[in-house]
This record gives sequence, C-alpha cells and structure tokens, in this order.
Amino acid sequence: MLSREIYLKKIEGEILNNIDLGDGMFQLLISAEEIAKRVKPGQFVNIKVQNSLHPFIRRPYSVWNAEDDVIEFLIKVLGSGSRLLYERKRGKIDLIGPLGKPFPDPPSDLEIILIGGGTGIAPLMFYAKYYSLSSFKIIYGLKTAPNEYLYSRIQEITDNVFICTEDGSFGFKGLVTDFVKELIEDRYIILEKSMFIICGPLPMLRAFKFLPPERTYVSMEGTMACGFGICMGCAVKSKSSNNYLRTCTEGPLFKLSEIEI
Ligand SMILES: Cc1cc2nc3c(=O)[nH]c(=O)nc-3n(C[C@H](O)[C@H](O)[C@H](O)COP(=O)(O)OP(=O)(O)OC[C@H]3O[C@@H](n4cnc5c(N)ncnc54)[C@H](O)[C@@H]3O)c2cc1C
Ligand code: FES
Repeated sequence: MLSREIYLKKIEGEILNNIDLGDGMFQLLISAEEIAKRVKPGQFVNIKVQNSLHPFIRRPYSVWNAEDDVIEFLIKVLGSGSRLLYERKRGKIDLIGPLGKPFPDPPSDLEIILIGGGTGIAPLMFYAKYYSLSSFKIIYGLKTAPNEYLYSRIQEITDNVFICTEDGSFGFKGLVTDFVKELIEDRYIILEKSMFIICGPLPMLRAFKFLPPERTYVSMEGTMACGFGICMGCAVKSKSSNNYLRTCTEGPLFKLSEIEI
C-alpha cells in the first residue's frame, strides 16, 4: 500500500533558468508552487526530462532549495537523462513530487555533521537552511575547487564549512573521509555528541562505515524507476531482516545500522 506521505499528482512546472556551474554541474530553477509549498529537506522530485517517450523513466533529483513557488536543483551531467535536462533552458516540465521521506527533525542534544560529495551537498544545504540549524558543520568533498557561486551559497548558510578537494585546489587536499577522521582525532568532532548525515556517491557512503551506525544517516542516490514504491527498482538490503527496503518510499535516508551498503 502506498504511504500517505506520497503525493503522486503530476505537476506541470515551468523552467525559469538553467545555469552552468562548471565541472559538469548546473542549477535548475523551476516554478512549481504545489511542490515548493510542500517539500521538506531530503525529499526528491521525479522529473520527466523531456516531453517524449524517451527516456521513459523519470529521473529523481533532491530539492536544493524551495522558496515562494520556486524549487531549485543542483545536477551533475552524467548520462542521457541529466544531459537532456542540462539542454532544457526554458519551457514546461512534467514533475511528480515531493517524493520520499524527509530527513529527520534535527535533535537538540547533538551536533549535526553534514557531509556532502558532489551534488550530494544539495539536500544538506536545504536541511541546514530550512531548520535554521545552529549547532552544525558542513563538510564538502569535491574533485576540484567549487564554483564561486556554489561556494557563496554555502557560506550564506554557515561559516562553519570545510572544503576537501581531491586535487588540492581548495581547502584540504584529499578525501573527505580522511578529513573527517582527522577532525575526530583532533576532537573537533566529538563522536559521542554528533549525528552525521551523508549524501554523495555510493563509494563515499561506504567509506564512512567507521562512524557510529545508530547516529549516522546515509542518503541513497542510486538507480530508481517508478519512484513511488511499486517496482522495487531502488531496493536496498535491510540489515535487520531478510527484507529489502525501498529507497523511494522508506528512504532515501537510512541509518547506517539499517541497511547493507
Ligand atoms: C533520491 C535521489 C536523489 C538524487 N538527487 C540528485 C541530485 O540532486 N543531483 C544529481 O545530479 N543527481 C541526483 N540523483 C541521481 C539522478 O537521479 C540520476 O541517477 C543521475 O542524474 C544520472 O542519470 P542520467 O539519466 O544522467 O544517467 P543514465 O546513466 O542515463 O541513467 C542512470 C539511471 O539509470 C536509470 N535507469 C535507466 N534504465 C533503467 C532501468 N531499466 N531500470 C531502472 N533504472 C534505470 C535510472 O533512472 C538512473 O537513475 C539522485 C538520485 C536519487 C535516487
Ligand atoms: S523506484 Fe520503484 S519501488 Fe522505488
């Protein structure tokens, strides 16, 4: 049975702008009042990337920000779907959402450590902004220095941001996992008093298995098909039973203790 939280109505949005942010990333701004008013951080929208039968399967994208009647996405060009979206500069666009469960309400007794990789920073920024978090850090890993605009958007939310680049062109040189380990060793992150939310590519999520599994959440951004619980195309293996959990309805955020990754 479909959860009551799922909102399956098709919504016609209007592309307002589509801006290249370098390194294959782009910012997509869509006017879609019904979604903008309902969406909570961590939820995603299933986008029909063009008005034809191909590609048949919609692509899910986390909401980066919602304000008034506008929703924003931060997208990286990877395959055919994201490329088609990148090429869409104006016009009507077919959306379903918001889908998925929102991120949990922020706890008052823990520091929240938001760790993003690539476009995985998008829902984390929305979370920090939406709840006006006070006790939190953002740690952002990229291959190379972030685009100036993207960096300024993070700084609008907090100064407590750390950038890690693989090529060393900005911030810490190396992997975000190594940086987090250093912060823990230096007691700049107090493991027992922190909750972690991590969103990024699967290998990055896997590399964070050293964090406390009950207080670490990972956002799964793998393949999806229907987006609302019917096809099992997004299933992840549950740790507690012989069952599978659906990223689109039971996720996309799971505790590390809940799933096999
Ligand atoms: C919850 C969630 C949030 C996401 N948020 C973002 C985001 O904010 N920014 C971002 O850049 N990316 C995000 N992604 C990833 C995004 O949805 C796409 O996977 C990514 O853009 C690559 O899609 P593509 O069409 O370019 O690549 P392609 O290689 O063309 O497609 C990759 C994809 O394979 C598709 N697919 C194709 N055929 C099948 C099939 N037969 N069965 C099942 N799946 C199939 C899936 O839809 C899939 O995602 C998110 C994914 C999820 C699940
Ligand atoms: S994508 Fe179909 S069940 Fe999740």
